[in-house]
Amino acid sequence: MESWLQSGAYKTWHCEGAIHASRAPSPHGFNRICSNDAISANATGTGDWSEGAAAVKELYDSATSTSPSGYAVYLKTSSDSAGGANWYWYERLPGGSISADGLGSSGNAKSTCVGCHAAAGADAAHTPSPGGRDQVYTPVP
Ligand code: HEC
Repeated sequence: MESWLQSGAYKTWHCEGAIHASRAPSPHGFNRICSNDAISANATGTGDWSEGAAAVKELYDSATSTSPSGYAVYLKTSSDSAGGANWYWYERLPGGSISADGLGSSGNAKSTCVGCHAAAGADAAHTPSPGGRDQVYTPVP
């Protein structure tokens, strides 16, 4: 995962134009989100995302930082989300610790990531961006 992140391949996805403060209820701090085609093409839809839907969130220390200090990533591994269990979750926090690295069926991926992302789009408080649903809070069009 780290070598793929360092390759910068995700920068050809659909990325937000600027670093921004996290949108509630996010714990991620300053960040910039890139969505792949599977998310971007359906950003304004209502159905579940297709298998292969993925996003990278670059984490920054401040709005003026020039390089990310960490990353959060997810990938939908099946057309059925299974409540988040069929998504792969990864996060390297600023400081270096890996807070998740695995499917949302167990461990921190389940208790932390799915524990919050499962509510995406459920109500106004969990819809920080238009089109948020099925584990995705901010789909970048
Ligand atoms: C308490 C709630 C919460 C927790 C816990 C959480 N997230 Fe998020 N996450 C959010 C919110 C809200 C956003 C959208 C933030 C924004 O637009 O600024 C987000 C955004 C993201 C994004 C960018 C795409 C999107 O859906 O907006 C990724 C990737 C991501 N989170 C991965 C993770 C991973 C991996 C973990 C577990 C280590 C995790 N998140 C834990 C709330 C949470």
